[in-house]
Amino acid sequence: MSDKITTISIIGAGYMGRQIIEKSALYGYNINVFDVSSKGLEEFINDVKKKTDKKKIKIDIKVYDNISEVVKNADLIIETVPEKLELKREIFSQIDKLAPSHAIIATNSSSIPISKLEDVVKRKDKVMNIHFYNLFTMPLADIMRGTQTSDTTFQKGKTWVESIEVTPLEVKKECYGFVLNRIWRAIKKDCLKIWAEGNADLETVDKAWPIFCQYFITNNYGPFGFMDRIGLDVIYDIEMSYFKNSGLSDDKPPDLLKEKVDRGELGVKTRKGFYNYKNK
Ligand SMILES: NC(=O)c1ccc[n+]([C@@H]2O[C@H](COP(=O)([O-])OP(=O)(O)OC[C@H]3O[C@@H](n4cnc5c(N)ncnc54)[C@H](O)[C@@H]3O)[C@@H](O)[C@H]2O)c1
Repeated sequence: MSDKITTISIIGAGYMGRQIIEKSALYGYNINVFDVSSKGLEEFINDVKKKTDKKKIKIDIKVYDNISEVVKNADLIIETVPEKLELKREIFSQIDKLAPSHAIIATNSSSIPISKLEDVVKRKDKVMNIHFYNLFTMPLADIMRGTQTSDTTFQKGKTWVESIEVTPLEVKKECYGFVLNRIWRAIKKDCLKIWAEGNADLETVDKAWPIFCQYFITNNYGPFGFMDRIGLDVIYDIEMSYFKNSGLSDDKPPDLLKEKVDRGELGVKTRKGFYNYKNK
């Protein structure tokens, strides 16, 4: 397996594909592109070339009109075609037959775990999810293994994501929605309910949200840091209140949280919660 990724192939140059092309080009990768529609593609590629020329970045970007040519000398192939399982399976199967044996095949799918695509390829150890958010305004990418993805593949994918200054969010155990998308899903699910069920105006939600987020930004906390400050006993009681109200097993707080509370790991106030505060 070639150790270095130097050439990326993008299949599907729409909203996300173009961001990956531009960002990768700006970080010195050669890019091969294929899209079934060439609408606006030439102008876009010329624009990217102007940007790389201006920065004196020496790269090669080529647009092809078929999959066999576009994957020919690729080290990493990312499909960014529409979110349709059968289409992605077809594309994965074609890429696998045509790409060099060392190449990694990744999907930018927003929801489909790679385990739902891996059975159509022979190189089951060289496939993974690389799910980008906006590469310029929110440079994050969930990365997730399939059932047989090798550590070498995963590490290579992760290193490549880091090389274009995008922060990888590692999924340790396959789940729907990856890391950040899953959190975002929980937020939007209840926002939509509040709106649809008339609990509050959508403007009220949107007014609260930036103020709430600003607190996290100012203090550099995430949700776990925040829970540690509230107190895990308090969090547990609140979650139990929701659970008792709905009776839904999905609302039951995890046993792991109860165990922490029982051990007296209540957060900042006991100097141990999700994090340790012994020296603080
Ligand atoms: N839009 C987002 O914010 C976002 C964010 C993260 C991930 N994604 C995921 O990225 C993928 C692409 O989304 P998008 O928003 O860029 O879609 P898009 O519609 O903007 O782009 C898809 C591109 O794929 C091309 N295409 C369709 N069939 C093809 C084929 N058989 N071969 C080659 N090209 C083909 C289309 O012509 C189009 O240019 C989806 O899986 C989506 O879930 C989207």
